[in-house]
Amino acid sequence: MPKIKVALIGVGNCASAFLQGLSYYGNTAKTEEIVGLRNPTLAGYVPDDITVVAAFDVDERKIGLDLSEAIYAEPNNTPQISQVPKTGVIVNKGPLLDGVGESTKHIIQVSVKAEVDIVKTLKEADAEIVINLLPSGAVKATEYYAKQAIAANCAFINATPNFIASDPSWEKQFKEANLPLVGDDLVDQIGSTALHKTLLKLLSDSGVKITETYQLDVGGGAESVDTLERTRDAKRTIKTEAVASALPYKTQIVAGSTDYVDFLQNKRDSYFYIDGVYFCNTPIKIDLKFQTVDAPNAGSVLLDVIRAVKVALTKKQNGAIEPICAYGFKRPPKITSITTADEEFKRYTNA
Ligand SMILES: NC(=O)c1ccc[n+]([C@@H]2O[C@H](COP(=O)([O-])OP(=O)(O)OC[C@H]3O[C@@H](n4cnc5c(N)ncnc54)[C@H](O)[C@@H]3O)[C@@H](O)[C@H]2O)c1
Repeated sequence: MPKIKVALIGVGNCASAFLQGLSYYGNTAKTEEIVGLRNPTLAGYVPDDITVVAAFDVDERKIGLDLSEAIYAEPNNTPQISQVPKTGVIVNKGPLLDGVGESTKHIIQVSVKAEVDIVKTLKEADAEIVINLLPSGAVKATEYYAKQAIAANCAFINATPNFIASDPSWEKQFKEANLPLVGDDLVDQIGSTALHKTLLKLLSDSGVKITETYQLDVGGGAESVDTLERTRDAKRTIKTEAVASALPYKTQIVAGSTDYVDFLQNKRDSYFYIDGVYFCNTPIKIDLKFQTVDAPNAGSVLLDVIRAVKVALTKKQNGAIEPICAYGFKRPPKITSITTADEEFKRYTNA
């Protein structure tokens, strides 16, 4: 299979887990020995068919380093799970725009080095897919990179919760440029939203009437700080809408991020509370805690999304690619049930 050439915007925790995953799964010779992936092979591609050809960041401690070293530079704090050999890809300085918020300016050390020409760099690297892994509050920077992707003739994956694929004006621009676009806000492999939806559906299908429920997260990565300051409300809207879609009736739901706990490092603690009634109005209550490491949780779905976007490129499709958006993102242009999204994604990538 020809390599799928991707460019990374933001070399933070997600980029680190992704690159470590490429090396981890690249070293597993037999597909049947692969553990931890939803799809070891997808549309004929294995993870090793993906290669990073360019990367951009703004932090002094990452710029100028080989990507294999930059992923371990502070403030990244996702654990080292595999050895990444030298990539030959040097992290370039991109424009800052709104990449750093008030609360992260003491965490990110903005480099004074010269910015590179993004479009030229993407073209010279022969990138075909741009993956946006900027902090969630970086709205202007996200839009800037979406424009650069179009100018460099690249597909765009928006892992951030900023509205790109779900915004009709951006979808139109990618359509006109004849390029695929997917987003917004990458789904986790075992995410708190999916777990919450599944629990609610199970209860509701069994005849339980949910009266109120919440799901709250605390985390220790830089992204948790940024979320608290700049995207708490947007995240709450996305997650609450997604959870509400699991129930056939309206009830009291809150789902969102609550706080930053530095000693958690890149771990995320998710708390679930569900209250309802079943037979003869008998009360039922669930309190649950679920702990994951945040960045590796993005890895498996990102690998699937990249390979599916390659399918879209091969098919010469453009605009928001719905089966990929619905499968891989919390805020697709059209929200469907988990089962429908999975089935349509399978159909799309097998066709
Ligand atoms: N499981 C997950 O981790 C997960 C799931 C869904 C979505 N996401 C989204 O993925 C994105 C990345 O998450 P993360 O944990 O890697 O964040 P992070 O804060 O660890 O990394 C962000 C990186 O972007 C860099 N940056 C800031 N401004 C920039 C600019 N203008 N140009 C280039 N680089 C810039 C920072 O220096 C940092 O290296 C977030 O938007 C998050 O919401 C993550």
